[in-house]
Amino acid sequence: MDRLTTTPAGVTLGPLALIPQDTARNFVLELRAGRFHGFVVRKGDAFHGYVDSCAHMALPLAQKLDAYLTPDASHIQCSWHGALYRIEDGTCVGGPCVGAKLMPWPIAVRDGMIVTA
Ligand code: FES
Repeated sequence: MDRLTTTPAGVTLGPLALIPQDTARNFVLELRAGRFHGFVVRKGDAFHGYVDSCAHMALPLAQKLDAYLTPDASHIQCSWHGALYRIEDGTCVGGPCVGAKLMPWPIAVRDGMIVTA
């Protein structure tokens, strides 16, 4: 099955409460065209979505389910070689791929639900 890096708009991922503040959650979407792996980080009331593929070696970032953040929840951290990414824009600011970026996964909040955009 092909691994997708985009999703159609309007797919409901779930209610806001699915992702408590300062946590992240993995999503796998089975679509006709293939399978999409992504994750959403909640920082305060802002939600940021990314394709689950590290800019260093294209591995999925978390080796443990939903473990995408540093212990203080200030950055996204890849579990393989420690790449550190800014939550707000996915830019790598530490580790082996400084300056590279995670691929954004556009999401939105609509009527209390997180949806793909
Ligand atoms: S694959 Fe993520 S830091 Fe190497």
